[in-house]
Amino acid sequence: MAAVPDHIRKKLAALGQEHLLRWAERFDDSMRQALFADIDAIEAGQLATLRAAMKPQASTNIPFTPFPFLELEDANFPYRLHRDAREATAHGETLLREGKVAALVVAGGEGTRLGFNRPKGFFPIYPVSGRCLFDGFAAQLRVIEKRFGRAVPWYVMTSRATHDATVKGFKEAKHYDLNPVNISFFTQGESPVLAPDGRLLPDASGRIVRSPDGHGGCIEALACSRMLDDMKKRGVEWIYYFQVDNAMERVCDPALVGVTASKDADVGVKVVRKQEPGEKVGVLVERDDHASVVEYTELSETQTNERDTQGRLRYCAGNTAIHVFRRSFLERVAGESLPWHAAFKAVPHMDEAGKIVTPSQPNAYKFERFIFDVFPRAKKLVALEVPRRRDFVPLKDASGPRSPEGVRKEMQAEWRAWLAHKGEKFDTDAPLEISPERWAETL
Ligand code: UD1
Repeated sequence: MAAVPDHIRKKLAALGQEHLLRWAERFDDSMRQALFADIDAIEAGQLATLRAAMKPQASTNIPFTPFPFLELEDANFPYRLHRDAREATAHGETLLREGKVAALVVAGGEGTRLGFNRPKGFFPIYPVSGRCLFDGFAAQLRVIEKRFGRAVPWYVMTSRATHDATVKGFKEAKHYDLNPVNISFFTQGESPVLAPDGRLLPDASGRIVRSPDGHGGCIEALACSRMLDDMKKRGVEWIYYFQVDNAMERVCDPALVGVTASKDADVGVKVVRKQEPGEKVGVLVERDDHASVVEYTELSETQTNERDTQGRLRYCAGNTAIHVFRRSFLERVAGESLPWHAAFKAVPHMDEAGKIVTPSQPNAYKFERFIFDVFPRAKKLVALEVPRRRDFVPLKDASGPRSPEGVRKEMQAEWRAWLAHKGEKFDTDAPLEISPERWAETL
């Protein structure tokens, strides 16, 4: 068996990771090569940053106030967006017609809470046809292409865990009748996982255990995979960002594109009004003259319950994770690092005896970057309130309101309200579905 190269020994000593040699002694040659290649790739600086992120972060004392947003003029069906957004919709449509808008879906999450064994985008969420989330997004892109005469380039961010299955699924679905030249897949980066004492862990193949680096990793991944260059070549100026789990996503909604562009903002964000103080959503705030997202855990009890003179929650701009980014803004910030957030999770790994351990309790830290940490770097950000059920029904869990059952209930409630408003008859007891093609007509 090949000896441990000197530089690997030295590097492990310098990183304080010599325990890995005990595993290396048991590995066969190919596993050793895999382990050594991973050790070679680790940067000492990155490890130190991750270790620091494991310590409880002192919450910043910089005071904040609610971030002003363009409020809905009418929150009841058929809804009326803020006047500025209604007026800017035509501008958003012009940008689509000119081919200046791209769609970007982040689909690298492992979807562990849902318990589905394929990438989440293939979940058959449509209640009657069983069509999946990706199918729904693609259908809307086809409608946009037909209406505006220009195809929207679609960028799909995957992770090591979801990449192959996603590409294969699109191929099997014949790219949902979109031209494959307009669909680009790119893989996000990873970060090593650390045990509470800062040790790296090996996996079943001898490699260092890693996990996807969060949706915030998409900026670096877009730059490294040259997707930002590809967008520029295609004449794209605005990137419409959304999460794969939003069953009611209005892909490339011209209202958000239009309002962001016409107000000359770097970022546009859809927000939904937080209903209950205890609702677990991050809220948009203004801190140090910049927009920023504060997690619900960071709000004090007083801030969580504070109400305005009309009795509405003061901190109520719930983050939907639907954004429009100016392409040149992402280019500008692509070289800057975003903060790391640590989460203590149950992480399968190989123990010293070579046994694969699948813990039931958290045992190690995973590290992620969040896309909204880029907000304070924007020269200007505009937030648009949208009707929750029409725009934002995320599929997250195996049970409860954000489960497939809960999501389908919300989708059908919205479709019934639409049909009733149009005066169309439908059976109130039977399962109902409006196809994404038809629904896209309401955009
Ligand atoms: C996130 C937001 C929350 C927002 C909610 C809306 C954070 C910390 N919170 O919550 O403020 O209200 O969405 O639905 O982000 N993803 C990747 N790569 C990763 C991790 C995630 O592509 O490494 C993608 C997932 O595929 C999914 C999306 O990001 O499309 C959201 O990920 P998830 O971890 O489910 O976010 P939440 O914690 O639910």
